[in-house]
Amino acid sequence: MKKHGDISRRDAMKMAISLIGGLIGTALGIPAIAYIIGPALKTDQANWIRVSSLSTIELRTPMLFKPKVTRQNGWMVEEEEVGVFVLTEDGSNYIALSNICTHLGCRVRWIAEREQFLSPCHNGVFDKYGYVISGPPPRPLDEFVTKIEDGNLFIQLPAIKRTS
Ligand code: FES
Repeated sequence: MKKHGDISRRDAMKMAISLIGGLIGTALGIPAIAYIIGPALKTDQANWIRVSSLSTIELRTPMLFKPKVTRQNGWMVEEEEVGVFVLTEDGSNYIALSNICTHLGCRVRWIAEREQFLSPCHNGVFDKYGYVISGPPPRPLDEFVTKIEDGNLFIQLPAIKRTS
């Protein structure tokens, strides 16, 4: 005779099936959820990109390079160019400057005769090292951290904001 509170064989089977179903659902569900939301949790991370072989970089004059970088932002994968002026005075130490003006984001140009960078939008002028000479730019050109590996120059993204 079944007492109040006893579990019938049928109830026990139902509980066991529910438990097994729950475990299977969890085992399948966690990787599926991680797969679905994982990319959305990823953001741009600092990374190194190769700019050039050192042998192609001239001494004492900023040279413009445009290495391509692939960014994954959530589910979006985008390829873009990074404009970077590289300057070395001695072939050992390298400065890598962003070519984006710190005023409103126009691309600066190197004017060799004047030894200055010019931002054509509002006549912002920077010296050879990216410091503001005149015009509306509020701060120097942003600078990338650099490293040398196997005869190549690398920069780390993103560029660093400099104060004067
Ligand atoms: S964007 Fe360069 S001076 Fe305005």
